[in-house]
Amino acid sequence: MTGTPPHVLRNRSAWDRWAAGYAEAGLRSWAADEPTWGIWAVPEAQAGVLPPDLDGLDTVELGCGTGYVSAWLARRGARPAGLDNSAAQLATARALQERFGLRFPLLHASAEHVPLADATFDIAISEYGASIWCDPYAWIPEAARLLRPRGQLIFLVNSVQLMLSIPDEDGLPATERLLRPYFGMHRFEWPDDESVEFHLGHGDMIRLLRRCGLEVEDLIEIRPAPGATASHPLATLEWARQWSSEEVWKARKPN
Ligand SMILES: C[S@@+](CC[C@H](N)C(=O)[O-])C[C@H]1O[C@@H](n2cnc3c(N)ncnc32)[C@H](O)[C@@H]1O
Repeated sequence: MTGTPPHVLRNRSAWDRWAAGYAEAGLRSWAADEPTWGIWAVPEAQAGVLPPDLDGLDTVELGCGTGYVSAWLARRGARPAGLDNSAAQLATARALQERFGLRFPLLHASAEHVPLADATFDIAISEYGASIWCDPYAWIPEAARLLRPRGQLIFLVNSVQLMLSIPDEDGLPATERLLRPYFGMHRFEWPDDESVEFHLGHGDMIRLLRRCGLEVEDLIEIRPAPGATASHPLATLEWARQWSSEEVWKARKPN
């Protein structure tokens, strides 16, 4: 596709290959009554990611994957739409919609270039979707464009601490050493993996959100409960009880 950045194409083929391995977890999350967040599955009641009242709100999930976050929003009264770069992930999302009898629009597109009108959503949300697989300098302006006045952007990412201390080798948890520079952090590529991730330092993220006309409302640093288990080996529980392993940003478009 002309004009599509190489990292978007690389991530599309990676997620098309990985999709089958995420179907089972997607099914479990669709089946869950209460939303849980991130690798530690912290319950919504503890994490406080969502606004208390979603009734009648138009939401868009950027990088929806199997679509369970949008399903949770729909069950709380929202009118969701999901967008994803991977046709294979969307096929799982469609199958789960059929299985649970809960349908909402699913769009095959990149969150860096969204074929939807300005100011059409009250919430744009991403849990490990566009929030880490898209260039923030491309997807955050798009998310801001899609929001109505008073609309809220909510996204979950790996923490800065984790990204600085996770080894290059796949499957090894975060260490107690800083393994790469903080200043200039942006694009991450791993030795045995053709996908591309993006992570910004806090100052750069705050400046970007503000430049997109958004006011930062919160930065929730996720702390798992004692005894929690992780769905991915990114950090040990001992590590994640001491340092933040995941963070949730909330920002709002003013009136
Ligand atoms: C870990 S999943 C997160 C979604 C959801 N929370 C889940 O676990 O099913 C990451 C998703 O981001 C999607 N993604 C990667 N690059 C994207 C892009 N440029 N635009 C939209 N989605 C993208 C992938 O296709 C994948 O489905």
